[in-house]
Amino acid sequence: MLPKRSLLFLILATIILSCSKKESGIQQVAIIPQPNNITTQDGYFMLNSKTGVLFEDEFEVSAKFLKAFIESGSALKLESNDAIQFIKDETLENDEAYQLNVTPDHIFVRAKSDRGAFYAVQSLRQLLPPSFENGSEDSEVIKIPCLTIKDQPQFEYRGMHLDVARHMFSVDFIKSYIDAIAMLKMNTFHWHLTEDQGWRIEIKKYPSLNTVAAYRDETLIGHYSDQPHQFDGKKYGGYYTQEEVKDIVNYAQERFVTIIPEIEMPGHSQAALAAYPELGCTGEQVKVATKWGVFEDIYCTTENTFAFLEDVLDEVVTLFPGTYIHIGGDEAPKTRWKNCERCQNRIKEEGLKDEHELQSYFIARMERYLNSKGKQIIGWDEILEGGLAPNASVMSWRGTSGAIEAAKQKHNVVMTPTSHCYFDYYQSDGENEPTAIGGYLPLEKVYGFNPIPEELNQEESKYIIGAQGNVWTEYMPNEDAVEYMAYPRMLAMSEVVWSNSDAKDYEQFVNRLEYFHERMDNLEINYANHLYEIDGQLISESGKITYELATLTKGKTIRYTTDGSDPSLESNIYESPILIDKSQIIKAAVFNNIQQLGSVFSQTINYHKGVGAEISIDKTPHKAYPGSGAKGLINGISGSDARYGDKEWLGFWGEDLYIKIEFKEETAINSIQMRFHNGNGQWIYAPEEIRIRYETDKMAEYKTFTEKVGITEDVLAYVKTNDTITAKYIYIEVPNYGEIPKGKQGAGNKAWTFIDEIIIN
Ligand code: ACM
Ligand code: ZN
Repeated sequence: MLPKRSLLFLILATIILSCSKKESGIQQVAIIPQPNNITTQDGYFMLNSKTGVLFEDEFEVSAKFLKAFIESGSALKLESNDAIQFIKDETLENDEAYQLNVTPDHIFVRAKSDRGAFYAVQSLRQLLPPSFENGSEDSEVIKIPCLTIKDQPQFEYRGMHLDVARHMFSVDFIKSYIDAIAMLKMNTFHWHLTEDQGWRIEIKKYPSLNTVAAYRDETLIGHYSDQPHQFDGKKYGGYYTQEEVKDIVNYAQERFVTIIPEIEMPGHSQAALAAYPELGCTGEQVKVATKWGVFEDIYCTTENTFAFLEDVLDEVVTLFPGTYIHIGGDEAPKTRWKNCERCQNRIKEEGLKDEHELQSYFIARMERYLNSKGKQIIGWDEILEGGLAPNASVMSWRGTSGAIEAAKQKHNVVMTPTSHCYFDYYQSDGENEPTAIGGYLPLEKVYGFNPIPEELNQEESKYIIGAQGNVWTEYMPNEDAVEYMAYPRMLAMSEVVWSNSDAKDYEQFVNRLEYFHERMDNLEINYANHLYEIDGQLISESGKITYELATLTKGKTIRYTTDGSDPSLESNIYESPILIDKSQIIKAAVFNNIQQLGSVFSQTINYHKGVGAEISIDKTPHKAYPGSGAKGLINGISGSDARYGDKEWLGFWGEDLYIKIEFKEETAINSIQMRFHNGNGQWIYAPEEIRIRYETDKMAEYKTFTEKVGITEDVLAYVKTNDTITAKYIYIEVPNYGEIPKGKQGAGNKAWTFIDEIIIN
């Protein structure tokens, strides 16, 4: 944390700069990601048609980017002089570091390489008005405040991923995504090109990949858990030609973005098998998948498969100049291998223990091939199972244990745990959010991510080379949908990987983000705006229960109602916490003087007998899903249905739980209702039964009984007891479901338990 005083200074500086903008026209300083060292001075540089840019050839890319940005963004035409100078600075250690010095007469960009200078240019870009982004700036002079920025990234790997297989997006869109990556000083685009539902890259040697594997017959409508499954009946697909790939790769290179292509193996390969069934274990014809999930048909471990993949990779490596090739490795069910004579023979011949070692053999063999071509492999953390290939890097997505294991083995790791990096999860509790896969990952949680797992010591931490936001597109059918999910979480991620974590401050980030909105508007990015949302919290203090409302952005008013109507400009202004002494619904929204700004926040409070009691659990929730702690289970508020990561849901991984509730006095109880999430696709299972025990104060009466948990909807399970008794204590045993059964996603792993409200009446 920044000391309070410098925080105050930063806030004041921002306010002063934004006030002075109106008076003197000097630009605001609000850069994302936050530079590591920034000092402002008096005065300003005047950018106008007398300005020139001077640079040596080695700064050609960044200097030309700047010139083009200025000239296409405004009516200005630059001269040739040395007003803006690019200077080589060998004293900077990091290739990506830069210094930007704005003085009244000159702007100096100092860097050791064009790459570093490019990031100076991105900072300078953000010191220019957002109107430059769409060419609408018409002033003859722009006043850039005098300042010095000394900056460099915290992590060398700063990435964004995009799945173009579940849905596909235009070449122009891919370029705009790369533009944003570069603007945010990220340097890697992980392009997820092959999947069960479609193969998206032209491979000349195997034309059926493009005529067959690139197209599915139809696509699932609605959410996977909506039963019965329905399909749209429309053929869907396409692929990027090698010419398009080259064009995109060049485009990325000019922005210092490396593209990592992902060719999935041995799993997530059903589309390829649809084109070449002989590469599967059964040899039977399969279809390109039309719904989401994990599929059992994976590549058989024959020489034919290896020859095929080597041929494919031969073409891939010539297209992508970066070091890394992503070979997938995730979610490969071993069912087919277990029943395949050829795979079983391979296990025997190679002296392997089991199918996990067979997967390890598969990956290590592909690694040898790619190493021989001068490439390194990276794969999802399942590649640790059965032994890691000697030079492989690991992308840790199932939490952080894969990261810890790989770093301890001295392998490089990129952090993408679902809990903080999956931008296909819901970002808001709001009722109008577009359907998402599930989960809950609000902006603040992304912002708060620390890529270094605390279990690692300093030496081991060096193997954590960075982090990445993942955008899986099952539920993002078009480009607008991708943008809605990717932004602004991508901005928060840029700060996670670039900015010094000691100086991170969410409120201050939010203020910069509010200013950044106009830039994204001009770039026509369909970002999600949850800045004017309300955060509600139940507070229980010395027997009094109140409900507190808050919003992050400054200078706005919260108005609310308790009668179920939507708030308006006439509704009560929120000034202090609302007393809760009965069940009620609170609705609130953020307003300025003229209108409502954000969506309506609505909270139903179910004031039951447990509210205000004492509660403890013998286990701590998993650190990725702490909810609001044990007390959140009896706060009168239920979690939202699909968003099991919100602050009402507590997540535990593979643990049996023992919950104790203590009332202030003996209380007559008619029913207990408990809810579990049962999102099996996300490895979450309701327990099959729970045990409840009541006790009176003096144990004069007690009772233990077992309740079956009924799965009443597809993802939610309830248990309700109906037995009137007087109790002072209630104990609830919640056994973990155990190992995830065969054939299910995550089979063989421990199941998660997610609980929200325990409603006592
Ligand atoms: C993954 O989300 N299956 C890597
Ligand atoms: Zn096989």
